[in-house]
Amino acid sequence: MLTVESLSSGYGQMNVVNDISINISQGEIVVIIGPNGCGKSTLLKTIFGLIKPYSGKMIFKGEDITGSRPFDLVGKGMGFVPQIDNVFPNLSVMENIEMGGYLEKKPDFSEIFDFFPILHDKKKEKARSLSGGERQMLAMARALMTRPGLILLDEPSAGLAPKMVGMLMEKIKEIGKTRSSVILVEQNVKSALSIADRGYIMVMGRKVFEGKADEILDHKEIGRLYLGKKDACEP
Ligand SMILES: Nc1ncnc2c1ncn2[C@@H]1O[C@H](COP(=O)(O)OP(=O)(O)OP(=O)(O)O)[C@@H](O)[C@H]1O
Ligand SMILES: [Mg+2]
Repeated sequence: MLTVESLSSGYGQMNVVNDISINISQGEIVVIIGPNGCGKSTLLKTIFGLIKPYSGKMIFKGEDITGSRPFDLVGKGMGFVPQIDNVFPNLSVMENIEMGGYLEKKPDFSEIFDFFPILHDKKKEKARSLSGGERQMLAMARALMTRPGLILLDEPSAGLAPKMVGMLMEKIKEIGKTRSSVILVEQNVKSALSIADRGYIMVMGRKVFEGKADEILDHKEIGRLYLGKKDACEP
């Protein structure tokens, strides 16, 4: 589905993502974890064409997409749900979903409402009135309207109550099974690894470990060094 080779990127002179290589196959859920500020969002933004890479290469469905713009990538089947500002707060739930369906000739709204019934019940409400979890579901629903083969999710469970985290993870698992490959950036590490196939650990812009999800969960040293720490960039 996607191969990222030796990708480096950042903001102006500030190098944030360093020589990262990752890949994801069709139907896989791959999680990217790492401390605050280590470059996870920057990596997703670079994959989605919001930031130009300094170097490296990205192949999506067999095609070189290095340097492609977000609009083109959506057309090729990539979806992105950013970490912040991922819904239009002053638009209704329905209008937000309609925005996502703009590429479809006949967007299938009933299908997405079947998948997220809570959004159907609240379709006339403004997005800003939704709970945090509902808002994340709306952001995902909007991105799924373009029927992506790969969706990038940046910390969808941040700040949510544990019960809502669990529900959201189940939805993401279902997305991976039935709709789209998923690259999931998460700080709720255990929940994310419990639904993922594989994972990558990033520290200070570099990939420091990759493996199967259960291998990462069971790895004592990795757990001690990286998974318990949320606030420091140092290993
Ligand atoms: N728009 C920007 N302009 C300049 N620097 C930025 C910008 N966005 C992020 N940075 C910097 O890049 C580094 C990596 O940030 P990034 O948001 O990618 O980290 P992250 O791993 O997603 O963190 P978090 O877990 O807090 O979301 C940080 O030092 C941050 O201050
Ligand atoms: Mg981030």
